[in-house]
Amino acid sequence: MAGPLDDSTIETIRRAMDHYAVGIFPNAKPASDEVHIAFSRRFGPIQRTPVLTITGRQERIRHPEIIDQSNFDHEGNILPDNDKRLLYKRANQQWHTDMSFHPVRATYSLLSAHVIPPSGADTQFADMRAVWDALPQVMRNRIEGLEAEHSYWYSRVTAGGPEPDENERRSRPPARHRLVHVQPGTGRKVVYLASHASHIVGWPMDEGRALLDELMAFATRPEFVYSHVWSLGDVVMWDNLTTMHRATPFDDTVWPRDMRRTTVREAEV
Ligand code: OGA
Ligand code: MN
Repeated sequence: MAGPLDDSTIETIRRAMDHYAVGIFPNAKPASDEVHIAFSRRFGPIQRTPVLTITGRQERIRHPEIIDQSNFDHEGNILPDNDKRLLYKRANQQWHTDMSFHPVRATYSLLSAHVIPPSGADTQFADMRAVWDALPQVMRNRIEGLEAEHSYWYSRVTAGGPEPDENERRSRPPARHRLVHVQPGTGRKVVYLASHASHIVGWPMDEGRALLDELMAFATRPEFVYSHVWSLGDVVMWDNLTTMHRATPFDDTVWPRDMRRTTVREAEV
């Protein structure tokens, strides 16, 4: 990742990502934030500014491109059990895709392992093209053309986090996206789903949620899922437009876990 990479190498990685959707880049030691950011930037416009407000949050990492996915506060102390920031982080244990709650979605995320706990905390990925391929035709007919509404706050609260305050809520309104889209690089159809999806646009709330629950249960069957067991220094890159992912539990008030993410966007914002 640190070496000079010519455009054809980047294009090869991009094509491999179109095919595999998740890529593992092992590193002998964790990549510096600078290398992580520079590598990510080769794949498109990178997110630099916070996309939402969480009251009381202070940054530990000075690069605005890095999203701090650790269980630390800004001074590097492990967050206490009842801390809102930790509760919101645990919401990553629900199946989701990054930034579906934003009109300008995430394409790739690149997550780098700086400190890992002795056990647990694998990250799982579901291939949403394989999910489309396996869906019964009646379900395909039912969902093609539908739009879902996605809200960051919806997934925080359903995962057991506190209700956002007014300022937080206003900082990130919901976004709407089609439930089925086409992957440009392959022409394959994809089910675009996430824990952020609260309902189906134009449908009664309960009916929409029932459909989303049914799809979620189908999409996360073991045959669609890869579990990544982290080694220190791994950078895992995934395509948010063709996969879902989730964190898995670990003893997060005991063991430090320092994970850092960059996010590539559909467009410059
Ligand atoms: C993320 C994410 C999962 C994990 O960084 O977007 O969901 O295992 N991470 O930390
Ligand atoms: Mn995520």
